[in-house]
Amino acid sequence: MILNEKNVLAILGSPHTNGTTAAMLNLAVHKAEQAGYAVTKINLYEKDLSFCTGCRVCMDTHICVQKDGIQEIALLLHKSQLVILVAPVYWANVPGPVKNLFDRLLGTAMEETDTFPKPRLRGKQYMILSSCNTPAPFSWIFGQSRGAIRNMDKFFKTAGMKRLGKVVCANAKNKKGLPKRITKKIERCLK
Ligand SMILES: Cc1cc2nc3c(=O)[nH]c(=O)nc-3n(C[C@H](O)[C@H](O)[C@H](O)COP(=O)(O)O)c2cc1C
Repeated sequence: MILNEKNVLAILGSPHTNGTTAAMLNLAVHKAEQAGYAVTKINLYEKDLSFCTGCRVCMDTHICVQKDGIQEIALLLHKSQLVILVAPVYWANVPGPVKNLFDRLLGTAMEETDTFPKPRLRGKQYMILSSCNTPAPFSWIFGQSRGAIRNMDKFFKTAGMKRLGKVVCANAKNKKGLPKRITKKIERCLK
């Protein structure tokens, strides 16, 4: 593969730039760079993004008609072969800004038909990283991390993208730094 074709979009979907998910993203970015990817990292909380108004014009235009930070993000998405998204678990789901990102990318990600949605980002890969305070295996059994992962999977899979990996750091509040098991999992995905 030609080097300049290996672009990664890395998205921080947490308000904490020094938290657990940020540490997971930093490691993934480092590994992706070592693997030869050109990485563009964005902090979703620093982006100027209005709420989705549900107008659905993007179904025809492929891009949201509200002019703000979404155009830059959609462009980066189109240019990337791999998207790495990190988001902590908030109420067994993703934080609001991450959900709003998915809403704002509706027409970028899929086309509506009379039956099933048609993906518009086919051929790309994605990796999702998350953390939560509930300890494993309850974080998964009771739907905490499962809820957030399911939501992120839904967006990317509907867009036609293939999952490269998923890593969850459970019981995050009792951990100092990233556990070895988590770093190994992230590294394995990006070898
Ligand atoms: C508003 C809010 C809601 C949360 N909801 C959950 C939850 O449903 N389940 C859970 O296990 N942890 C929950 N947490 C804890 C976070 O998932 C946890 O602190 C996470 O590791 C934070 O990641 P960060 O350091 O990247 O911000 C919540 C935290 C906040 C602030």
